[in-house]
Amino acid sequence: MPLLPRWFTSPISSAAVPLTIAVLALGAAPAQAQEGERLSSQLCAACHGVHGDSKSPMFPKLNGQTQDYLTAQLKGFREHQRGETDARSYMWAIASQLDDATVASLAEYFSQQKPTSGSSSDAALVAQGQKIFEEGVPDKGTPACASCHGAQGQGNGQFPRLAGQHADYLMRQIRVFQNGSRANAPVMSAVAHTLGNEDAKAVAAFLQSR
Ligand code: HEC
Ligand code: HEC
Repeated sequence: MPLLPRWFTSPISSAAVPLTIAVLALGAAPAQAQEGERLSSQLCAACHGVHGDSKSPMFPKLNGQTQDYLTAQLKGFREHQRGETDARSYMWAIASQLDDATVASLAEYFSQQKPTSGSSSDAALVAQGQKIFEEGVPDKGTPACASCHGAQGQGNGQFPRLAGQHADYLMRQIRVFQNGSRANAPVMSAVAHTLGNEDAKAVAAFLQSR
């Protein structure tokens, strides 16, 4: 029978337990979704919800997000390339604790979780948003969102899933692309600059309900 770690049997050294767990949680781990699941419930669920299915518009949903996008964002927070205020306040510190193997396991885990959708009570706004999503706003030079984010807003590789995401979160991101504080995605910043507030609201309402 293998020897148990000392802290396991000794009640006196219980103060060492949380530290030991933290070290185990953040240590180099094999890139497995299983490891990602364990880490996500310890480190992420308090804000992003169980399995990344966030219930609060303050926190983006991560369930069903693309693996490449999740990887890029976690590295972007860690390397201070994604710099809007909420990213600095909420994600910089925790991302600084994640090595590449941990990032890989978290990205794999969340990308495998079933996506969920929300709702909207304003059918006219949703219809207007769907039109913008699928056709863009040619007068203003806004391209169809679907051309990058997928016909259903499901995302693809570096292009994030938008379907089902909280409308308030989507609106905040459009704003930070516009004000330049989320500056590491020039393509999306250019698109955001063409979007008026009413159009942004409509497309966000549409996406939340998908
Ligand atoms: C204290 C709350 C909190 C915790 C804990 C937390 N996050 Fe976040 N996370 C946020 C907030 C708030 C944002 C939105 C930041 C913004 O608006 O720029 C965010 C954004 C993200 C994003 C970007 C999502 C997108 O659609 O662009 C990813 C990926 C992410 N978090 C992953 C994680 C992972 C993985 C963990 C656990 C290791 C974690 N977060 C822990 C609050 C938290
Ligand atoms: C030319 C390709 C392209 C088009 C067209 C495009 N986007 Fe994007 N979008 C991107 C990329 C790339 C990202 C990821 C940026 C990053 O890595 O930080 C993104 C990110 C986003 C995000 C942030 C998502 C998150 O989880 O934080 C939102 C919101 C968004 N796009 C909305 C839209 C809307 C609305 C439209 C249509 C009006 C649109 N995009 C059209 C390329 C595009």
